[in-house]
Amino acid sequence: MCGIFAYINHLVEKDRRQVVDILVNGLARLEYRGYDSAGIAVDGDAEKDVLIFKQVGKVDALRKHIAESPVDFTKTFLSQVGMAHTRWATHGQPSPINCHPHRSDPHNEFVVVHNGIITNYRELKLVLAKRGFTFETDTDTEAVAKLLKYLYDSVQGRKPDFTSLVKSAVKELEGAFSFVFKSVHYPGEVVVARRGSPLLIGVKTEKKLKVDFVDVEFGGAVDEASTAESRAGQAGLLAPPPASVAGGLAPPKAGTNLNLIRSQSRAFLSEDGLPQPIEYFIASDASAVIEHTKRVLYLEDDDIAHISEGELHIHRLRRNDGLSSIRSIETLEMELAEIMKGSFDHFMQKEIYEQPESVVNTMRGRVNFDTRSVKLGGLTAYLNTIRRCRRIVFIACGTSYHSCLATRAIFEELTEIPTSVELASDFLDRRTPIFRDDTCVFVSQSGETADTILAMRYCIERGALCLGVVNTVGSTISRESHCGVHINAGPEIGVASTKAYTSQYIALIMMAVQLSEDRISMTERRNAIIDGLHDLPEQIRAILAQDKALQALAYGTLAKERSLLIMGRGYQHATCLEGALKIKEVCYMHSEGILAGELKHGPLALIDESMPVILIMTKDSLYPKVQTALMQVTSRKGQPIIICNDDDQDIAKEAKTIRVPRTVDCLQGLLTVVPLQLLSYHLATAAGVDVDFPRNLAKSVTVE
Ligand code: F6R
Repeated sequence: MCGIFAYINHLVEKDRRQVVDILVNGLARLEYRGYDSAGIAVDGDAEKDVLIFKQVGKVDALRKHIAESPVDFTKTFLSQVGMAHTRWATHGQPSPINCHPHRSDPHNEFVVVHNGIITNYRELKLVLAKRGFTFETDTDTEAVAKLLKYLYDSVQGRKPDFTSLVKSAVKELEGAFSFVFKSVHYPGEVVVARRGSPLLIGVKTEKKLKVDFVDVEFGGAVDEASTAESRAGQAGLLAPPPASVAGGLAPPKAGTNLNLIRSQSRAFLSEDGLPQPIEYFIASDASAVIEHTKRVLYLEDDDIAHISEGELHIHRLRRNDGLSSIRSIETLEMELAEIMKGSFDHFMQKEIYEQPESVVNTMRGRVNFDTRSVKLGGLTAYLNTIRRCRRIVFIACGTSYHSCLATRAIFEELTEIPTSVELASDFLDRRTPIFRDDTCVFVSQSGETADTILAMRYCIERGALCLGVVNTVGSTISRESHCGVHINAGPEIGVASTKAYTSQYIALIMMAVQLSEDRISMTERRNAIIDGLHDLPEQIRAILAQDKALQALAYGTLAKERSLLIMGRGYQHATCLEGALKIKEVCYMHSEGILAGELKHGPLALIDESMPVILIMTKDSLYPKVQTALMQVTSRKGQPIIICNDDDQDIAKEAKTIRVPRTVDCLQGLLTVVPLQLLSYHLATAAGVDVDFPRNLAKSVTVE
């Protein structure tokens, strides 16, 4: 996840310093989306000149870097285009060269900022390299800047308009993106595009606009040209664009229809019909524009917006795609303080709610649901080594450790390699024997947890193959491990880990599936898992829809308790431990995750009518055994709340239940954990805990 921001003014006199400040302040608002590096691009002194400033680290480091630059910031302009980016690295480590904005060439002919992941960037790079392009960064985004230049240079005759050019480029891209493009060939113009990553445009005018919506442009030569280009693209990636790409909508004529938000067919004048100063703010989310304007227009997937001469035009990538042709300008109701977390009160809550998207991001470009296959690029070269290893050892702490526990059984089943799970600190304390033919997997959201790093170095010294499964690109584990997987959950700000857990879980499942792809006997099992992965986002949404009931349960029943036992077995044991950890850390309530099979070996002594118990009892092969545990609890007057499948008819009518959709056994923990995350969140708010900053804890534990 990255943050992008852009600013365009028309007939509003501003010096360069003011524009830089607007950009950098916008970035600071988006910093929570990523903070490993930041950069901006602004107009230079000459019309065909772009200045780029980049810095590794937080936005403040960029601010300082710009302040030290010899550039004359006092120069004033009536119209400028600036763009900015704060990065959460996904491709390429945080480094000055990998910072955005990225450019097509040393003359900055095309400059772009990007949020998202272009999954076919390697193919694009190959094709462009064959056409003489060289690359200066490790990013996917640079390929897009160069693609624009390639398309621009390939058009013979009439100069293409900026929108048509971007359309042609975007049609070649796979993955998720929101982009802002700027070019020395189109001074004063900006084109933005989105698919899968959010983007909105804030509009600021002194006068009232006569009509507050924009008619989307579906038809016209642009679409014809782009359709032809797309067909060419299918025939062979990056076939040269047809000459017709130059025949798109002509850029608006200077001096006419100034200061209007208008469409191809209709012009929406300011009330007095006169040109007026206007400013546009483009951002990944509203937090960055709210201090300037509350009037925003949200772009839809495959919208391409063009701003020039104060006019905003919105085009669709394809005609007749069934989407509404109206983009309304909405008035934000929220205040700045609220919007940082969107409509959520806390980052923890926001991150729980992000899971339908974050799990997709973990799978994006890796799981092919049509061919039912999984490909983790970072592991490809090591697959045979792992398959031949003597054992797999997972090593992690806290929630990350639970994701390993949750997936150990499916690793053993699919790979038939002995698999163990270690807490990093205990692993080190024991000086656990490790050998050259071991594969050690280090799972960490931050990639900076000291215990896990030390355990990894210990294993590297002993010659084991070390894999990292991390969220933070460029982190120590990501850099020092031999290979690995980025979980791509996006920045997790709430100290209690939620969306990272589900993404780690999925990343590990994907690893197990890929490792077993050479085992024909496992085909059916693998297919069922991949089908299950496909349905997860909707199933998580269905659980989130029960939030009100879970809140009532937390506030009405559980908040007054001092302790809570969470029981289950098999795949659900990890969920019990993870649920109990969430409750401990954000609610400051004692909670214990108990393996139901162990109940009779001790914990049963705790059970009476007053002991609160949650029992996870989903329909898998261990269901009859969990039924036994249920009887052991109820016969001691315990009244457990049962987390069960929504189609379970075997549970007594009078039992209190939380119902979750049914999925494949090894994925079920991805669903049963969500109500526990929500319950812990509500218990924390009921207890008045500062949810995102629970006492004594830190997001990244960099000490032993
Ligand atoms: C709990 C939590 C911690 C972390 C643990 C490891 O909600 O966040 O238990 O999981 O400190 O951190 P990472 O995953 O960054 O190595």
